[in-house]
Amino acid sequence: MSGSYNIHNFGAMIGDRVRRVAFERAMSEVITERTTVLDLGAGTGWFALHALALGAKRVVAVERLPAIRHLHALAEGHPRRDRLQIVEGDSSELDEEFDLIVSDLRGSTPFFGDHFTVAADARRRLLATDGVMMPQHDKVHVALVENQGWWRRQVEPWLDAPPVDHRVLIEQITSTPARISVSTAQLRSTVGSAIALDYAELDELAERRTHSGHAELRGRSGTAHGVAVWFSTVLINGVGFDNGPARTDPTYGRTLLPFTTPLEVAEGETIDVRIDVRRHGGSWLWQWSATAEHGNRQGASLPDPSTSGSGSSPARAAAPGIMGR
Ligand SMILES: C[S@@+](CC[C@H](N)C(=O)[O-])C[C@H]1O[C@@H](n2cnc3c(N)ncnc32)[C@H](O)[C@@H]1O
Repeated sequence: MSGSYNIHNFGAMIGDRVRRVAFERAMSEVITERTTVLDLGAGTGWFALHALALGAKRVVAVERLPAIRHLHALAEGHPRRDRLQIVEGDSSELDEEFDLIVSDLRGSTPFFGDHFTVAADARRRLLATDGVMMPQHDKVHVALVENQGWWRRQVEPWLDAPPVDHRVLIEQITSTPARISVSTAQLRSTVGSAIALDYAELDELAERRTHSGHAELRGRSGTAHGVAVWFSTVLINGVGFDNGPARTDPTYGRTLLPFTTPLEVAEGETIDVRIDVRRHGGSWLWQWSATAEHGNRQGASLPDPSTSGSGSSPARAAAPGIMGR
């Protein structure tokens, strides 16, 4: 999914029960009849309606997309309708302080569009002193993954089509972070946490151009086709959720940072996985490497040709490296 959402995408987010229950619990820990709430990036306004149900004093739902218009119908006849203000527009246009700002501006990972910039602006201008913002922390997790299906569909067709050497296409495909499903059985290493994001430091996060981290993993014997990436979150006071492979169907996708050729992993060997995520216009570019005793693999997502020319020097020919939810 790209940076824009439709009603089906909002439905999938609400249908993710693990996510929904975590937000419900976190909101119920904060909201009393004295709490003013901003639902930032409201979609169709589910967080706003839940805040109303919890008895919040005032609730503002702000959303850039026209999907917010559905909230008028959804809130019609609500006994607390007079406490809800629906704003179709950008949060940067608001000028009011709130006791709670609740949002989910992430995609498959927290590195999504202008997430940090929008959240930092809201924290700076719209959060009351002693106010609460959720989420509070995210962690980006990595593990080596076997995904024979992805490899067979995406890469194999180009491997054996003589007389043409399709290496350049394979390099492009394996330079593009892909959305995949991952089960625990497909992991070819332990799981490590590579990047921690503390949203108390949003101003700093919004300014930083590159976010880097690494994790030392232990191999599980088999073939790895790349590094799988996902995140876990703390919304408040230990309430949160994890989008890892143990969950069957999170609304957030799992990302594959592919290898150009598969890596054979030996049981118990040490693998150092590094990732760098770099802001590039309105999107994010990824660089990754896996260094094992039995071999190294690396890769880099490449700028969208329409936004390139800003001084980056991709190692290979251009292919879009933008990731969606
Ligand atoms: C991932 S969706 C979340 C929707 C809903 N809150 C939920 O969690 O189910 C994020 C939404 O935030 C909206 N958004 C992002 N930045 C915004 C901003 N600065 N002002 C208003 N809406 C924004 C996007 O249009 C998108 O619909």
